[in-house]
Amino acid sequence: MLKIGALVSGGGTNLEAIINSTENGSVPNAKVVTVISSKEGTYALERAKKHNINGVCIKKTDFSDFDQYMQAMIDHLESFEVDLVVLAGFMTVIGEKFLEKYKDRIINIHPSLIPSFCGNGFYGIKVHEAALEKGVKVTGATVHFVNEETDGGPIILQKVVYIEENDTAQSLQQRVMEEAEWKIFPEAIKLISEGKIEVVGNKVRRKN
Ligand code: GAR
Repeated sequence: MLKIGALVSGGGTNLEAIINSTENGSVPNAKVVTVISSKEGTYALERAKKHNINGVCIKKTDFSDFDQYMQAMIDHLESFEVDLVVLAGFMTVIGEKFLEKYKDRIINIHPSLIPSFCGNGFYGIKVHEAALEKGVKVTGATVHFVNEETDGGPIILQKVVYIEENDTAQSLQQRVMEEAEWKIFPEAIKLISEGKIEVVGNKVRRKN
């Protein structure tokens, strides 16, 4: 059983999609064992509670330095023997210490087709605003392993979403979630839980 620790900062719809997939049998070999929120009172924590999953808030401002903050998260995840860390709308950059500890065991969902509209400053609704501003005709979502480069780690899965003539950033954000994020995030976890992928250099390779 792959034990997942989910890091969240907001609404937690991706967290919900992951929990549902593990509970309804579509991702049978994985289980969310703890949820860490970077803010107090997020709806993501409420969702964890509803599913009887441990949920805590560990926030940067409670620590005098960044390393201590990272260590507190590592200690918490270790106490739950977490195998895979899932960033489900987590809006804080992960530090070196954490990356080393969970090398090739941290995955993130990003609401665009990386390498478009990603990197520092591209998060949440801003990503969709930038896509509409550029006038691209397709966008989508990407699940990738996390390394020291923001949104630059090996890509696991991507899914395309077509932009419609009357899209607003809000309507596009919702469709990207429904048509792409909530599908490929659980799918990626399934692949990992079944040992079907591996990181080779800066790419993800399917094992046969
Ligand atoms: C999602 O759209 C996710 O892709 C995005 O934040 C949203 C979180 O929603 N993540 C990023 O932009 C990370 N760079 P959720 O809390 O409802 O899952």
